[in-house]
Amino acid sequence: MRKKIVAGNWKMNLQLDEAKQLLQEIKALGKNVSDVNLIINPPALYISLFKELLENSVIALGAQNCSEHESGAYTGEIAAQMIKSCGANYVIVGHSERRSYYHETNAIIAEKINRALAANLSPIFCCGELLSEREENNHFKVVEQQLKEGLFHLNEKDIKNVVIAYEPVWAIGTGVTATAEQAQEMHAFIRKVLKDFYTEATAQNCSILYGGSCNASNAKELFSNPDIDGGLIGGASLKAADFLTIAQSF
Ligand code: 13P
Repeated sequence: MRKKIVAGNWKMNLQLDEAKQLLQEIKALGKNVSDVNLIINPPALYISLFKELLENSVIALGAQNCSEHESGAYTGEIAAQMIKSCGANYVIVGHSERRSYYHETNAIIAEKINRALAANLSPIFCCGELLSEREENNHFKVVEQQLKEGLFHLNEKDIKNVVIAYEPVWAIGTGVTATAEQAQEMHAFIRKVLKDFYTEATAQNCSILYGGSCNASNAKELFSNPDIDGGLIGGASLKAADFLTIAQSF
């Protein structure tokens, strides 16, 4: 049985006081959630404090990005090892906002995946097509290329520690969600590509999350599909009640 996961990507939102308050609300409501792995990905600055505040909670922490370098003179960057040492167990890698605004290529993303795994972090690897790519019917090709160039250099053992998030770029922050059929179709495709490249067992054990305007109203329909194992949630993860409703939508 693969893990069900609901992860909140807080992006660059919330001052410390607001962030602490949201964390406490999620922590309290999260006690009612079972059988689902909850992960919060706050701004990296907050991880260390959050680790303390989450004592005795099953909620896990992740960062939103890490450097492709191990350490050294990279002003402003944060190393995977640092993230781990502050108490996180996950890191989002290859988010479309990083790909487009910070020019992260598949090759850079592959390096980040390596750093994350070397630091014992589980990467949440994001992939997804632009609207124009879907309109040109290239969405499967684009996602397959992102997987092959950013992730499939991993061996059978390491790929087991990776969570995949399918986030169609046109659905992120737009209020336009992929239909359950579109999401399921792509998730099944990703699982097939995993099976063809690795093994059936690896494909079956890999959690594949959907992200892109997933909210308290549409999560149930999305999560009821056989290949959708949860969500990577942006906007709706900033409201404790909505985030927890999503976590209870399986
Ligand atoms: P929204 O849920 O705000 O569309 O963001 C999705 C996302 O980018 C999660 O990483």
